[in-house]
Amino acid sequence: MEPLRLPRFIAHRCGGALAPENTLAGLRAAAARGFRAVEFDVMLSADGTPVLIHDETLERTTNGRGRVCDTPDAVLFALDAGGGERLPTLAEAAALCGELGLLANVEIKPAAGHELRTGEVVAAFVAERWGGGEAPLLSSFSPAALAAARRVAPRARLGLLYEEVPADWRDALAGLGAVTLHCDAARVRDATLAEAATASVPVLCYTVDDAAAARALFARGVAAVFTDRLDPAS
Ligand code: G3P
Ligand code: MG
Repeated sequence: MEPLRLPRFIAHRCGGALAPENTLAGLRAAAARGFRAVEFDVMLSADGTPVLIHDETLERTTNGRGRVCDTPDAVLFALDAGGGERLPTLAEAAALCGELGLLANVEIKPAAGHELRTGEVVAAFVAERWGGGEAPLLSSFSPAALAAARRVAPRARLGLLYEEVPADWRDALAGLGAVTLHCDAARVRDATLAEAATASVPVLCYTVDDAAAARALFARGVAAVFTDRLDPAS
């Protein structure tokens, strides 16, 4: 497994507030702004295609209706995801990250009940078809999805996501072979950061849109922050 070269600022949902979330326009905007890393969310369509979208339902970010996991590709990829952008497939996002030299943090975002299949499909794609760019970091709030990912991609770099980090986080990471800890910036505790430093585990925090708050988190030992608004040079 190649070492993770983690920049301090990671554009959230592709391009943060620079473009419609989880779109190829967001990836281009992030690269143009100087980001070297991006995070995006991936879920499966009814046809099992991995697609970039955050919510289980289409209403908030597209002109469609209903659940992503019940929507066939023919319908899904005809929708407007904002500003005339189409929902990207994971394959399209991977290719563009390679072209733009962006490190990707692919957040596996399974619809409820689809944890194993989503973990398997995303990890198999990453292991077999990612392409020329740097291998991505796969993360999820779902340990079941990550365990499935690990079964099909023994060499994948995995990160475990929490809202609030539990006391047994090191056991959870070790069980999955995960290398990074991701959590809510507002809830991260100094004791956790001290444990992570001792264990040489990078801690990545979401979502930080205030430069002073980002500086304070870095001073406390946080390795990187996901941002919708900050400039990567701030
Ligand atoms: O991966 C970090 C962050 O994206 C997790 O929260 O809800 O924005 O996917 P969410
Ligand atoms: Mg996310």
